Amino acid sequence: MDISLAGKTAIITGGSLGLGLATAEAFYQAGGRVALLARRREPLEEARAKILALEAPDGAQAATFPCDVTDAAQVQATHAEVVAKLGDVDILVNNAGQSATRPFESITDEDWQADIDLKLFAAIRLSRLVWPHMKTQRWGRIINLLNVFAKAPGANTAPTSVSRAAGMALSKVMASEGAPHNILVNAMLIGFIKSDQIRRMFDASDGSQSFEAFVATAGSRLPMGRMGEAPEAANLALFLASEAASYITGCAINMDGGLSKVV
Ligand SMILES: NC(=O)c1ccc[n+]([C@@H]2O[C@H](COP(=O)([O-])OP(=O)(O)OC[C@H]3O[C@@H](n4cnc5c(N)ncnc54)[C@H](OP(=O)(O)O)[C@@H]3O)[C@@H](O)[C@H]2O)c1
Repeated sequence: MDISLAGKTAIITGGSLGLGLATAEAFYQAGGRVALLARRREPLEEARAKILALEAPDGAQAATFPCDVTDAAQVQATHAEVVAKLGDVDILVNNAGQSATRPFESITDEDWQADIDLKLFAAIRLSRLVWPHMKTQRWGRIINLLNVFAKAPGANTAPTSVSRAAGMALSKVMASEGAPHNILVNAMLIGFIKSDQIRRMFDASDGSQSFEAFVATAGSRLPMGRMGEAPEAANLALFLASEAASYITGCAINMDGGLSKVV
């Protein structure tokens, strides 16, 4: 099975931490040229140092680009910088995001707009920028990291569940339009995977248990009895980004240890 990314340039938004960093590591080890985007410089540089310490085939590269993906002008300028430094973009992983769930009546217009800007508009804008090159070369991969709430929204899951459902519809639209051009677009619906996001949930908890116990307790409620690990999600992203996934598009794949029901 061919999962080499040699000669491919990939943008990973939110590449400095968690699932984005694990994905960047996997892409680098597969020989890709990886552009990590995030707002804060320090975590970006720490991520780059971790990646460069890994063994990788000749040609693998990792570069960082401070960018707030909710800012259209920054996104456009950063895309141009990535192309100048690493070449035209073959693979886009729209991963930047953060948990945002609360009772419907407490969510302000500003909260809704911020969530949609981060989880929907960022993916729309970046996808539109990388699309022409992918179309011309008849090869492209776009992977949208979403949440299991996209398929199964429930009480107190807005605004995320709504932004993520829109992201799933967006993935399907782009997959349909991309298919004739061999641009494959898929979504990964994440359940609970250990990351800085989970660490922030722990920090907001009552502090009655250690982080490890918090993760173990939350994981014990899942069908597999544990939370996922970031490299497990990265394995799926790497497969979807590779030539091995050449006939897979328009899918919303649960990465949730069995949490989702029949959908
Ligand atoms: N972990 C889970 O269990 C879980 C569950 C469901 C969905 N997800 C989704 O999966 C994705 C990855 O989650 P994670 O757990 O790995 O998150 P994480 O550990 O909190 O990392 C989030 C990343 O996104 C970046 N980011 C946030 N806002 C940004 C912005 N406006 N512009 C650019 N970068 C931004 C962060 O860097 P800066 O803060 O420096 O910008 C960081 O690199 C997210 O979309 C998340 O919502 C995760």
